[in-house]
Parts: sequence; structure tokens; C-alpha cells
Amino acid sequence: MAALVRRTGALVASAHLMSTLNVAIVGTGGISLQNHLPGLALCKDVKVHALCDANPATLETARQQTGAPVASTKWEEVVTRDDVDAVIIATPNFLHPDIAIAAARAGKHILCEKPIALDAASARRMAEEADRAGVRHMTAFTYQFVPAMRYLRYLVAQGEMGTPYHFRSCRLQDWGTRNLGWRQVKKLAGTGEIGDMLSHRIDFALQLVGPMKRLVANLMNLTPVRGGAPNDTDDWVAILAEFRNGASGVLESSKLASGRNESWRSLDYVEINGSEGTYEFTTGKWNELQYGKVGGPGLKTRVIPPEFHVWPGSPRDPGVGDPLVTFRYDQAIEFVNAIREQRSCAVTFHDGARAQAVMDAAVRSAETRQWVDL
Ligand SMILES: NC(=O)c1ccc[n+]([C@@H]2O[C@H](COP(=O)([O-])OP(=O)(O)OC[C@H]3O[C@@H](n4cnc5c(N)ncnc54)[C@H](O)[C@@H]3O)[C@@H](O)[C@H]2O)c1
Repeated sequence: MAALVRRTGALVASAHLMSTLNVAIVGTGGISLQNHLPGLALCKDVKVHALCDANPATLETARQQTGAPVASTKWEEVVTRDDVDAVIIATPNFLHPDIAIAAARAGKHILCEKPIALDAASARRMAEEADRAGVRHMTAFTYQFVPAMRYLRYLVAQGEMGTPYHFRSCRLQDWGTRNLGWRQVKKLAGTGEIGDMLSHRIDFALQLVGPMKRLVANLMNLTPVRGGAPNDTDDWVAILAEFRNGASGVLESSKLASGRNESWRSLDYVEINGSEGTYEFTTGKWNELQYGKVGGPGLKTRVIPPEFHVWPGSPRDPGVGDPLVTFRYDQAIEFVNAIREQRSCAVTFHDGARAQAVMDAAVRSAETRQWVDL
């Protein structure tokens, strides 16, 4: 019976390939308003058809903004509807696996926010269920859509770096000691800074350099109380890694880099050193990299070619809006295009699960004060 339901669901989803794609959004808080809605608005023949949020006031705000005809405070009522083709999951982290698996079993394509689960086993189960159901699945590793980061991946894939020696990333934000809501509750969020921010950089390191062999890590909670409420998650994390190809990795991320500001105004730095040269990227400079050739005089600016300014297939005009914000809209466009073109999304649940395995290993390493093999 379950197999029949799955097959029927997949058929329902594929019937909408050439017509309007009806999307349901579960969790209509910050990221849905900032990224998912404007991204979907750029997609042709896509309708935000159903909304779900546990908070009626948040749901109503999104309903007024979108005019979506279906609104519910219960995700179970939304993700199984016959008139929904695809589901975007943007709830607190602990809910992602249950919602994704229910959506997959109902034959819906799924874009799920990162981290996609609280542990790698659940993340892998999500990927397996989505594969079995034959639906498209995508992890919202949004920084893969930064033009300079995509160009860097392209250059590395072309062999421009030679043999990779070192991957280095540093994400420094000033979130102060304010209350972070569900983000400061381990059983809802899983982790703190490592899931919030470092998960993006772990994903980028795996994309750029390849799988890790082993790591040692530390996590610190320097603010056990945030905004008057307990915080049992990490504010700071650092990983020292060895990749299978012999390269080293040093990844650091903090919410407590006072004075560094937040989001795209804060420090987001990635550097890769290889036998042929070095590339350095900072998010503030979305359309350039710093490049130095082995034996050369030092780093110089390398401007990103215009064909990398938007994701392939994106109708977005890179000249419209703040480019440090608008690259994020390409994520929804890639999701929709993958559904229509009947191909895998650029960043699947398997990528989400691989990053999650590194996160799990980092937590284990910090707890046991040992190196952990991957
Ligand atoms: N990809 C990125 O760059 C990026 C950026 C920010 C957040 N995120 C991720 O997006 C997700 C949401 O983050 P946010 O900042 O939007 O948080 P948020 O708190 O602003 O929004 C989450 C929403 O989920 C709702 N919710 C809670 N329980 C629910 C339930 N049972 N059913 C339906 N809705 C429920 C809440 O009421 C809230 O409106 C998290 O997984 C977060 O890690 C990703």
C-alpha cells in the first residue's frame, strides 16, 4: 500500500511538470520571507499555493503577503494535499526529517533548510526515502549560489589549484547575547553555531576539496543565558581536519565576534592553497576573488566573469537589488528547474547528510576530546 501511495504521489508530482507548480511552504518565518518567497516569485508558472506555520500570526502575515489560498497550522494537512507538488521546509531543525519523509511518501519534491536533520542517520534516511519516492530533493546550502564561490568551485574543478594543500574558513559574526528562540535550545536546533553557520562551510569544503578522513574539534558555549533564557548550544566551533586527499582543513565560526556585525556585513572568509596557487574569497566581495600564483608577488583581484553572476537557468537580473542578498533567490530557481527538467538538484539531501556526518563527528570529538574518523 505504501508503495502504491508513493507511486501515486510521484505521478501526481510529474503531472504538474508542464503546468503550474504548486508549492507549499512549511515554516513561514524569517528565511521563508527573506529567501524562499522572493526566489519563487522569480520562477515562471510557480504558485505559492499552501502555507503552514504553527504560529497563527506568522502564518497570517505570510498569507497576506502571498495570497496563498491554503493556510494551516498543521504541516500534516499541507504536505499530503493532492494539489501540492513541492514542499519547502523552513521550520526549526528538529522538525525537518518528519516533514520531509511525510512529503516524500506523498510524492512531493522537497527543498529543506539546513541542517536537514539533527544527526547523520536521520539525514541519510531522508535522502533514502526521497530517492525511493522518486522525488527531487534539495538541501538549502545557500552559499553554493554565491557567484564567487561557484566560480571558485569551477576553477578548482578545472585543476587551476593543482594539488590542494589547505582549506581555511572563518565566519565571524556579532550576535551578542540576545535571545535566539529555538536556536538556543539543543533539542530543537541540534547544535548552535556549527549548524547555523559552519554547516555551510563544511559543505563548501567537501565540495571544493572532497571527503574528510578525520577531524578533531572543539565547541564552546560562552553564553549559557541568552536574553534571560537558557542556551545549551555552541556559540563557537573550530574544526581541524584531514581530507582523504591529504589536504588540511581549518574551519572556525563564531556568534561572539563582537563588533563584526552580522550576516553579509560580517566576516565570511574562505581560502584554499594548492600547489599552483591560492584563492581567497570573502562574502562582502560577491563578484571577485583574490588570486596568487605559486612563486608570484602576492594576491591580486580576479573579477568573476559575468556568466557566473547568476545560476545557470536563472532569469534573475544580477543588476537588480543588493547582490549580497539576491544570489540567494537562485536557490529556489534551481529547485524548480530541477523539478521541471527531471534531474537531480544541484545540492541534494545526500550533500546535507554528508555535511551532517562531519557535524556529528565534530560534536563527538569535542565531547570525547579525541580525533574522530569519518
Ligand atoms: N539557508 C540559509 O542560509 C538559512 C538562513 C536562515 C535560516 N535557515 C534555516 O531555516 C530554518 C528556519 O529558520 P528561520 O530563521 O526562518 O527561523 P524562524 O524561527 O524565523 O522561522 C521558523 C518558523 O517555523 C515555525 N514553526 C515552528 N514549529 C512549527 C511546526 N510544528 N509546524 C509549522 N511551523 C512551525 C515557527 O512558528 C516559525 O515561524 C532553520 O532550519 C534554519 O537553520 C537557513
